[in-house]
Amino acid sequence: MDDGLPSTSGLLRYPKMYNSFLFLGLLAYLTKSGAHVLQNIQQDTKASCELTASLGDDAPQFLAAAASCETVTIPAGTTLNIETRLDMTGMSNLNIDLQGTIRFNPNIDYWSENGFPITFQDQITFWLLGGENIVLSGGGTLDGAGQAWYDAFASNSSLLRPIILTLNQATNAFVENIQMINSPEWFNLVNECQNVTFNNITITARSTSDNFISNTDGWDIYRSDSVTIENSVINNGDDCVSFKPNSTNILVSNLDCTGSHGISVGSLGQFSGVFDIVQNVTAINIQMSDAENGARIKAFAGDNVGSGMVQNITFQNFVVSDVDNPVVIDQCYETSADDCEEFPSNVFIQDIFFNNISGTGSGSQVASLDCSPDGRCSDITVSGFDLSGPDGKTTYECQNVDLSGNAASLFGTCTTT
Ligand SMILES: *[C@@H]1O[C@H](CO)[C@@H](O)[C@H](O)[C@H]1NC(C)=O
Ligand SMILES: *[C@@H]1O[C@H](CO)[C@@H](O)[C@H](O)[C@H]1NC(C)=O
Ligand SMILES: *[C@@H]1O[C@H](CO)[C@@H](O)[C@H](O)[C@H]1NC(C)=O
Ligand SMILES: *[C@@H]1O[C@H](CO)[C@@H](O)[C@H](O)[C@H]1NC(C)=O
Ligand SMILES: *[C@@H]1O[C@H](CO)[C@@H](O)[C@H](O)[C@H]1NC(C)=O
Ligand SMILES: *[C@@H]1O[C@H](CO)[C@@H](O)[C@H](O)[C@H]1NC(C)=O
Ligand SMILES: *[C@@H]1O[C@H](CO)[C@@H](O)[C@H](O)[C@H]1NC(C)=O
Repeated sequence: MDDGLPSTSGLLRYPKMYNSFLFLGLLAYLTKSGAHVLQNIQQDTKASCELTASLGDDAPQFLAAAASCETVTIPAGTTLNIETRLDMTGMSNLNIDLQGTIRFNPNIDYWSENGFPITFQDQITFWLLGGENIVLSGGGTLDGAGQAWYDAFASNSSLLRPIILTLNQATNAFVENIQMINSPEWFNLVNECQNVTFNNITITARSTSDNFISNTDGWDIYRSDSVTIENSVINNGDDCVSFKPNSTNILVSNLDCTGSHGISVGSLGQFSGVFDIVQNVTAINIQMSDAENGARIKAFAGDNVGSGMVQNITFQNFVVSDVDNPVVIDQCYETSADDCEEFPSNVFIQDIFFNNISGTGSGSQVASLDCSPDGRCSDITVSGFDLSGPDGKTTYECQNVDLSGNAASLFGTCTTT
């Protein structure tokens, strides 16, 4: 090659001027982040950079590569050690080809001070990834190194623990063929995004001590529209998928959830002065095992809380196994019965379909639909239930819901308070 650079470097294969310019730009950028950075990046073309692990913190070279390269490859066998937070917002056409592992070093003092704050429910995160046309795929692993966090949380219940991955203001993002292990807290937050798909994700949280994997939600969706989560296997210790305020047009399909708190709408209506919307959600073909809940909608009641609307939600083709509460509407979430009566929920729930839910509960009560009075739940349709408790005893419970057809005979008449 006649581009003034050693042809053996394998670096530049595009026309000379273009590449030299690009290379100098990259060099100038990278030298700012430290000399060790450059030698760890192999740039094949404009579009492609390959990272190798450094001896220290790999966050600077990962950030530099994401800012300069269209494809950033972390090869199989490579583990990037991330010691400082990753701000990858405002990206454009970024393809992260994660074949190896990204591991978040569990320096609890550092992260609890420096994790990116997430205002909603007072959270922090290791990694903000956002912008337009983002792909994260490659068959590799995100490792939250959660054990140190599970143990630290056991003796400090106010410890802020990071979410592994926050898709933040992302439009057209695609996350596929990734394993995520041992998040300190939630695995995925989808925050203020539009058109995001997760496909073939394996989520596993496991503690090797007696300390529980608390709050390890699989996905939480917040202020986001058009989100798909499909073909994934989740083993965790809190919600499998949770639709937080302002989740719209969501498809969740073909998930196998074990040990979770279920597929949950909410909790909603928590914060005074805030109006929460969850609309157009379909959760279909879900296997739910050893879980606290199956299909659930939860909203706050009481004095000085928020308001909202849950509309057009379908839970279909659920197979449950050893689930405590396979079907739940709770419009009195974390509120005392007296407060619920005096201050019924201001979150209105309508057009809800529970369709074809089968399997076994862990207790005799397999479904409970507890609504606030005065039409706060309307058009709740229940069909195709084939649920049973252990020992053949099966009960259904409801309040303030009008049910028709076969469901009416299962649930009996719902008392109205
Ligand atoms: C518990 O965690 C909080 C929040 O991260 C921190 O401010 C506090 O110092 C920790 N408490 C102890 C006893 O370590
Ligand atoms: C949604 O994002 C995907 C990439 O994940 C893209 O292929 C598709 O065109 C986008 N859809 C819309 C409506 O923009
Ligand atoms: C799902 O992702 C894993 C890597 O996490 C990969 O090995 C497997 O081939 C993928 N499955 C499909 C159907 O693509
Ligand atoms: C949800 O969207 C509605 C309508 O745009 C808005 O009024 C409300 O403030 C949003 N709520 C949240 C929690 O963002
Ligand atoms: C819900 O879906 C309906 C029908 O497709 C659509 O008209 C409506 O705009 C959607 N709601 C939201 C909040 O996108
Ligand atoms: C209900 O939501 C689904 C998506 O979950 C959507 O396809 C459908 O059009 C919506 N129906 C109405 C009547 O808005
Ligand atoms: C009910 O759900 C089960 C489990 O997903 C599925 O095999 C079956 O085909 C569904 N039945 C109908 C009528 O869709």
